[in-house]
Amino acid sequence: MTPDLDPRDFRALLGRAADVAARHWERLPEMRAYTRPPDDLVAAWRTEPLPERGVPLERLLDRIEREIVAYPLGVGQRRWWGFINSPPHPAGIAADLIAATLKNNCAGTSQIAVQVELTVMDWLARLVGLPRGSGGLLVSGGSMANLVALAACREAKLPGTRRRGVRAAQRQPTVYASSEAHSCILRAVELLGLGSEALRLVPVDREYRMDVAALSAMLAADRAAGLEPICVVASAGTVNTGVVDPLAAVADAAREHRCWFHVDGAYGAVGAALPELAARYRGIERADSVAMDPHKWLYVPYEAGATLVRDPASLRAMFAHRAEYLALEEDSYLEGPVWISDLGPQLTREFRALKVWAVMQAVGLEQYRELWRNDIAVAREVVRLAARQPRLEVLAPSDLSCFCVRYLPERAELAERGEANAFNREVLDRIHRDGRMFISGTTLQGTFALRGCVTNFRSTPADAKICVDTIVELGNRLEAERH
Ligand SMILES: Cc1ncc(COP(=O)(O)O)c(C=O)c1O
Repeated sequence: MTPDLDPRDFRALLGRAADVAARHWERLPEMRAYTRPPDDLVAAWRTEPLPERGVPLERLLDRIEREIVAYPLGVGQRRWWGFINSPPHPAGIAADLIAATLKNNCAGTSQIAVQVELTVMDWLARLVGLPRGSGGLLVSGGSMANLVALAACREAKLPGTRRRGVRAAQRQPTVYASSEAHSCILRAVELLGLGSEALRLVPVDREYRMDVAALSAMLAADRAAGLEPICVVASAGTVNTGVVDPLAAVADAAREHRCWFHVDGAYGAVGAALPELAARYRGIERADSVAMDPHKWLYVPYEAGATLVRDPASLRAMFAHRAEYLALEEDSYLEGPVWISDLGPQLTREFRALKVWAVMQAVGLEQYRELWRNDIAVAREVVRLAARQPRLEVLAPSDLSCFCVRYLPERAELAERGEANAFNREVLDRIHRDGRMFISGTTLQGTFALRGCVTNFRSTPADAKICVDTIVELGNRLEAERH
């Protein structure tokens, strides 16, 4: 078979692929939340031979349906609330197919795909409340979005580091984030050559928000000790509990110590567009950079993260490079408004912007607000119902759509902290085997929590009840077995 299918065969192939996708779409809302692939299938894949000869495309699609689509993660099942995963909006799925067909390289040049990305970046900056003139680029996800922002910060605060490495810094540069910050901040600090000890973890208050008095004290003490604070990272929607740090107060502290103010809003930056949460987000407009993830709460298919900066020149100062073979004359017919490859680490870049644009265009802010409110309401319903259950304990408040609860065994020896943690880990494992819903776990100040994050346009308050009932049922059963 030649790869150059004739248009009829091409259409037929995509039709068959669409059938596979549509059968999954149909089963998805009510399917088991998680189905582990069988061991023999995994073993067979592990020894899959390098193909010497191709196979017909129909056989390929059959195999994809039988061996891959049959064992999905269940993202989009109506009670899939694990990690921070959202179902893909259909407009994004369709746009992704078209983008793959076009295969634009969005490094630069005069092409509409680059303009689509500029438009999307403008929309995202406005969505989270950054001023006009802010910009940035799409990247693979939140981890990369934070890394790119912190790289821009490093070059802005320690000019010359790009050329001379961190020895350009006269004193040890330090970065501040709360103990609830996502682990990708630590990874970014490491990747930037600052060393993990350069990340100073600020304690949190009882609601798991950054303690700004402690931040100010740490900044002052570190400066007095000869360190060089360069960056304060606040979270707008922590991954564990979905709280927003006191952004305005953090911005004040950052400014006082001449630090870059970065906001990790991978999950929650979009909450800035909810009027009822405006007070919580006050201060985000002062950020030097914001990381946010269209593939989380904008329901865009993977992968789509975004680095937004107040001053796009800060990205250029860190990343601009132009290979000889890409150089264009100033009046070249090909030259476009910007080389996006000068703003981040990738040269060849996929046309991510199409799916982000398509979903945002299809949904619109009005419906987004309704969807976010629904997600938040479902999470609050879980908390409300859990609080009425004698065997459940609610562990943390959330500004957004997370919930953290645990099962409290009745017997004293099981209720003691270490035992209760082990017990709840086992409850979580049973939840995964049960398949009615999918949540994940986390540890809050040493206490293991059953944690959900509702970013799922299929979820309803009835699902909240099923969730709480399932935890109680499985917890009761486990406790009875332990007798
Ligand atoms: C607050 C926060 N930051 C960063 C990330 C990392 O994002 P990604 O998994 O897209 O790399 C996450 C992921 O859950 C997150 O919740």
